[in-house]
Amino acid sequence: MSGVSEDFVTIALPKGRLIDSIGNYLSLCGCNFSFTGRELVTIDSENRLKFLLVKNADLPIYVKHGIAGLGICGEDVIAETGYEFYKLFEFSFGSTRMCLACRKGDKVSPDRQIKLKVATKFPVFAERYFHSMGVPVEIIKLSGSIELAPILGLTHYIVDLVETGNTLKENNLEIVEVLSWVKVYLISNPAYYKLNYKRVDDFVRRLKEGRH
Ligand code: PRP
Repeated sequence: MSGVSEDFVTIALPKGRLIDSIGNYLSLCGCNFSFTGRELVTIDSENRLKFLLVKNADLPIYVKHGIAGLGICGEDVIAETGYEFYKLFEFSFGSTRMCLACRKGDKVSPDRQIKLKVATKFPVFAERYFHSMGVPVEIIKLSGSIELAPILGLTHYIVDLVETGNTLKENNLEIVEVLSWVKVYLISNPAYYKLNYKRVDDFVRRLKEGRH
């Protein structure tokens, strides 16, 4: 990478379902980059931005430790870490619903007297939500394929993200309640922002221009 400035704005991006939308949106804003093959670090065509491709749940860790000054991810992931970031921009794509769901036909609204048993990848969100509603809850944390929990009888309910609704439908489950909308944000490490606000604001301006 000779001749490349090392003074990049560094941005962590999440592997998985958001990455294509992020790439398309940034390209609309004139930020062009691509990860070739299994590459995990790349530079944009103007040699100004460095992108790191990280696991979704790890993204806040890279931003918190300043390895990436900025990151793009859903607030579900941010909430689970409990870290404080600046949210600098809300993207128009990638919104999902955090839902309480169960097997089709088993739909009853949570009873405030009875302890709910809920499986989820989002224990912090779920605990906070049900506590705020005054509903006693027992959370069972799983890492994925949450839909299996009610099918196999581990729990009656799950709290999970619903985007298209296909996973619920194909597993004969249904939404009991939408608990919250989850949006995608550009986040910043606060210290990084204070030191680099001119370059970061310039990047945010480019993102805003892409909104039209
Ligand atoms: C997410 C989420 C649901 C599914 C919802 O899982 O946890 O399982 O996507 O999407 P849909 O409404 O469009 O069907 P993910 O694909 O991240 O995989 P995981 O189950 O391994 O966590």
